[in-house]
Amino acid sequence: MRRRFGSLAPVELSPGVPATLVIGYHAALQILHDPDHFPADPRAWEKNIPADCPIRPMMEWRPNPIRSAGRDHLRYRSAAATALGKVDLHRLHTTVEQVAIPLINSFCEVGHCDVVSQFALPLAFSIHNATLGCSPDIGQRAATGMAALFDTVDAERGNQMLSEALLELIRVKRADPGADITSWLVEHPVALDDEEMLHQLVTLYGAGIEPVQNLISNTLLLMLTDERFAANVLDGSLSTRDALDEVLFNDPPMANYCISYPRQPILIDNVWLPAHQPVMISMAACNNDPAIRTGEVTDNRSHLAFGTGPHACPARPAAVLIVQDAIDQLLDALPEMELAIPANELQWRPGPFHRALSALPVTFPESPPISAGIQ
Ligand code: HEM
Repeated sequence: MRRRFGSLAPVELSPGVPATLVIGYHAALQILHDPDHFPADPRAWEKNIPADCPIRPMMEWRPNPIRSAGRDHLRYRSAAATALGKVDLHRLHTTVEQVAIPLINSFCEVGHCDVVSQFALPLAFSIHNATLGCSPDIGQRAATGMAALFDTVDAERGNQMLSEALLELIRVKRADPGADITSWLVEHPVALDDEEMLHQLVTLYGAGIEPVQNLISNTLLLMLTDERFAANVLDGSLSTRDALDEVLFNDPPMANYCISYPRQPILIDNVWLPAHQPVMISMAACNNDPAIRTGEVTDNRSHLAFGTGPHACPARPAAVLIVQDAIDQLLDALPEMELAIPANELQWRPGPFHRALSALPVTFPESPPISAGIQ
């Protein structure tokens, strides 16, 4: 694509849905820092997209920060960023430990597990529920719906299941607020109504579970398959944080996202981009752009895995903490973990947006359950 098109490649996101994929790092920066010319509001575009188009639910308008521009964006962003900013990272560290240990204990004695379904997913899911103040039952329904959206399989039904679960959570928190993200959103001075609240939570569910789960699995995969990290478990050469940064650079969990919809035709890098047609950033391609990849990426955090500019991820510190702590807990408990099948036999889930393993089967010596450390 780079040889043929340079930094902007014409693509179809789904059959008959044209878009521009940004694969050049510098073009991506220009776009992500120019919300006036590249607004994130998809309403003009989606008028011509059928309701059953499998990628539509991930891209359509919602009154939330990711899909709005201008004043609306400021409004939703301030509520989301304030609520996420109130999460206590010290407490979060303890929460990760409290969630990780029982999960590890559920498989450590049998000598094998699937990291995705038995660790990364339930961990991301329980932590998200804890920070949102959400009961396990409501959270389970929301997560199932969201997974269908990400896989772009049975997406419409997934959307409906998600909405019903989250409306219930909003009702609970309006009546009885606590020290959690949902309550902080409800209490924020921008006074979000029920529909707005619903969509803030949908956004948080999409952002808070799937990419975290995928970053845990993808980072662990790197650590289990690359000598530089495998050595770490025993003699400490490169750390979990180094592996995490490398995955965020080379193989980010949101591979293609950060979508904008220009209101008028716009010239960028000598290419006219049409109005009302999605411009999608390929974080995977931009991070691997030879124009910026001059050497080692250890300690280099200039990747676009969390976006950049006014829509950049407001939960980056919490997300990194959760992933790093989760992997450290797992490898501290089971340091001799190995991949159970050859890496090239691993399956990746469908969908153009994410980089997600279907399963990550591992083996390790059968080990006794562990108890919680000093907190
Ligand atoms: C590894 C984990 C994560 C990754 C890779 C990630 C990635 C991203 C990216 C690429 C964006 C920019 C989207 C755009 O420009 O259209 C974004 C935005 C956002 N993320 Fe994250 N995220 C992660 C975790 C989280 C978590 C845990 C939360 C909250 C619970 C969260 C909440 C948000 C929100 C609310 C936005 C929208 C900001 C805006 O449009 O102003 N993210 N994230």
